[in-house]
Amino acid sequence: MICDIVVGGQFGDEGKGKVISYLALNDQPEVIARSGVGPNAGHQVFYKGRQYSLRQVPSGFVYDKARLLVGAGVLVSPSVFLREVTELDIQKRVGVDRRCTAITDEHIKQDGGANSEKIGTTKTGCGPANMDRVNRTAKLVSEIPELAQYLCDVPTEVNAAKKALIEGTQGFMLSLLYGTYPFVTSKDTSASTMAADVGVGPKNIRDVIMVVKAYTTRVGNGPFKFELPPEKAKELGFAEYGTVTGRPRRVSDKLHFDDLRYAAMINSASIIALTKLDVRFPSCAHAKKYSQLTDEARKFVEEIEAELHVPAKIIGTGADAEDIIDRR
Ligand code: IMP
Ligand code: MG
Repeated sequence: MICDIVVGGQFGDEGKGKVISYLALNDQPEVIARSGVGPNAGHQVFYKGRQYSLRQVPSGFVYDKARLLVGAGVLVSPSVFLREVTELDIQKRVGVDRRCTAITDEHIKQDGGANSEKIGTTKTGCGPANMDRVNRTAKLVSEIPELAQYLCDVPTEVNAAKKALIEGTQGFMLSLLYGTYPFVTSKDTSASTMAADVGVGPKNIRDVIMVVKAYTTRVGNGPFKFELPPEKAKELGFAEYGTVTGRPRRVSDKLHFDDLRYAAMINSASIIALTKLDVRFPSCAHAKKYSQLTDEARKFVEEIEAELHVPAKIIGTGADAEDIIDRR
């Protein structure tokens, strides 16, 4: 079995959706399994002139032969899931682990309280749903008739695949254990937890691909080093808006190397996927070979490799799934 896993190295929104869509098309895994917290994450995919924002199903759907799975650790909003399945027309190849926790309207209501405001949550009900799971009062997706046709056993399918890809969500610095507590999401977000979410043991992971954006952003509250005023971020071309909430993202033009080194250690990252190099160095847009990068851009890549002691073998040079330099 060959199983790679993609995780975020920063505060989410590193460009995991883009990296996963590329890996799906290029590596052609039989199975792509989504892990992480739930519909609080929005992965963006640009492919063949279309843009997709996916909160529940795997971003690897662009590879149309892959089986698409949602692991038991993932919270499922039945309405978001069913909408995405219909929009992408993936009814025949998508499955949800029967043990997933369902997000209810009550969870969403509870995610609107004072503490959620303080944290700046996405108000998608994820924290309260995880509380119910821990409390052992949660409703599982197996109790929802509309999902019956999609229920499956994700670990059995992933472990039977010759080639699988695990799609992590969120970012290391939002981890409930290792992030900027209490300004974090409601679960650990490191590679070990992402693997456990879909039922793959630690010895079965080949590469841990940690996605790092060429600058740093954060949505929601909490500490954020070297934050730029919004006007300055706009001027530099780094202004972004949250996929799930539409909120402006906070921006720093620096990479937080101490934190990234720590993230690489705990994730056991073997490959860095550096994204949005073209936003930092517009002359690199759409490059597909390392030799096409300017000296300045190559110096930037080499600095990251020297700081993190992990090779940046995948480099994103544009929004499209195929705008990538692959040096693996
Ligand atoms: P919650 O996960 O909705 O409870 O939100 C907790 C914190 O995590 C907030 O700062 C959110 O903005 C942040 N967060 C959760 N998921 C993501 C994500 O996928 N990308 C970026 N930020 C996220
Ligand atoms: Mg996102």
